[in-house]
Amino acid sequence: MPKISLKVNGKNFTVECDPATPLLYVLRNQLDLVGAKLGCGLEQCGACAVLVDGEDALTCVRAASEFEGTEITTVEGLAEGGRLSPLQQAFLEEGAAQCGYCTAGLVVAATALLEKNSKPDPGEIRDALQEHLCRCGSHLRVLKAIDRVVDGGA
Ligand code: FES
Ligand code: FES
Repeated sequence: MPKISLKVNGKNFTVECDPATPLLYVLRNQLDLVGAKLGCGLEQCGACAVLVDGEDALTCVRAASEFEGTEITTVEGLAEGGRLSPLQQAFLEEGAAQCGYCTAGLVVAATALLEKNSKPDPGEIRDALQEHLCRCGSHLRVLKAIDRVVDGGA
């Protein structure tokens, strides 16, 4: 089986897999990083998102081998020293999830936005979350959680 090298959450990994295997499967099944979820599997819902070189990126279709040489950060990698990131903490405090299936993707998308723009306006926030669907209707609470960080309350 071919080997590919990935840098995930600051650590280097070599995994054996078919190079066409979508990154999501490698993260979940070989690296035990199960925050990102398989929803549609068609790049339509956002559940599988991670940060790739700081950008919100979907992982359910693109081959893991395409991500060699990048810095991948999953939702697990956003906590530091056992402490949730301010945005993760704000999601928790606002109860910004119901089933939680979409949550990792939304946290990743909002993290990518806030790292580029710490004071996004409501339109910019909505644009950044556009690809991320929530079947449970948690979007209003998600927006409140992001506002909490933008306003300096988290
Ligand atoms: S599972 Fe990747 S976008 Fe839906
Ligand atoms: S909280 Fe269930 S899909 Fe978003």
